[in-house]
Amino acid sequence: MKILAIETSCDETAIAIVEAGGVLKAPRFKISKNLVSSQIAIHRPFGGVVPNLAKREHIKNLPIILGKIFGIYKSEFLVPKQIPKFKIQNIDIVAVTVGPGLEPALWTGVNFAKEICKQFKIQNSKIKIIGVNHLEGHLYSFLLSKNYNLKPITYNLFPAIALIVSGGHTILVLMKSLTDWRKIGETRDDAVGEAFDKVARMLELPYPGGPEVERLAVKGDPNVIPFPRPMMNSKDYDFSFSGLKTSVLYYLRDNLKAKKEDVAASFQKAAIDVLVAKTMRAVREFGAKSVILSGGVAANKCLRKELKVASDKLSVNFLSADKKFQTDNAVIIAVAAYIQFLRKKKRVIRAQANLNL
Ligand code: KG4
Ligand code: ZN
Repeated sequence: MKILAIETSCDETAIAIVEAGGVLKAPRFKISKNLVSSQIAIHRPFGGVVPNLAKREHIKNLPIILGKIFGIYKSEFLVPKQIPKFKIQNIDIVAVTVGPGLEPALWTGVNFAKEICKQFKIQNSKIKIIGVNHLEGHLYSFLLSKNYNLKPITYNLFPAIALIVSGGHTILVLMKSLTDWRKIGETRDDAVGEAFDKVARMLELPYPGGPEVERLAVKGDPNVIPFPRPMMNSKDYDFSFSGLKTSVLYYLRDNLKAKKEDVAASFQKAAIDVLVAKTMRAVREFGAKSVILSGGVAANKCLRKELKVASDKLSVNFLSADKKFQTDNAVIIAVAAYIQFLRKKKRVIRAQANLNL
């Protein structure tokens, strides 16, 4: 099954072609094409993503990227009647992110997917369009990880505790199988990625803040400033990062000579401590065999390391795809589309900015 996937939920325009096969117990994926066009330079002067600029860039970039994927020139591709003349390489499914995300950005992807699906139908009348929940893309991204691909059978992995950490979400999921899972906790205020981005701004680091905080933290001491660990010991699986963010703000206000490296390192450590403690408590409580980590913040080396160490201590598997599949991309959208296809689950093809897990 060949899947062409499109992702435009935020500030990355991404298209991928993924070959998917296997049943729900052992799905397998082979990436044929994976292109991501980042809008960082466009949004950087504004210190964050500007939805209408994101939309404008997606509209401009989608045909260019699709042209590159099929190895054709933009000018040729832009004449719509010519599209069917190019071989569409037996695409069976066009997958597109329908939410959550920025509404104008989501619509560009959805409309583009519908348009190309119409064009592709001339070559393959059975082609399907599948609307994908972006969060399911992150959730299932572990199917691209090295340890999964060494032994691609899921029944050894479950039950599992999955932690999704992105710019808009911080969610803990109890997974009994690829199809049977439920959310057990989430943030009550800021997402952890949002806290990284806001702290970065306080430290006068450029957007996007997460990777910049991580870079600065490497040079600092994480034990210098005792920032709070909100809700670390609460009995539920919820999170809260807004108090931690405010503590950083007050600390910087009251300590004008603070070493920024130490602030970054101490903040990062506080956030990671909470994420690891809560995840591992869920592992113990639900007798999980695996820890699964995904989302943009999962690109953070410290977080990956700490969760791996904690998983090893409890002798449970740790699964997380490569860094390039953590920040937004279209490969994970193809993966989630295939699982959805196997589950025969239908979702309406329209932008749903507030879609949740
Ligand atoms: O999944 P993602 O690319 O987009 C959303 O779906 O939100 O996540 C983006 C978030 C941003 O908040 C970004 O600052 C954060 O992930 N992020 C990081 C790192 N790389 C990206 N946070 C901490 N450390 C990183 N290395
Ligand atoms: Zn994301």
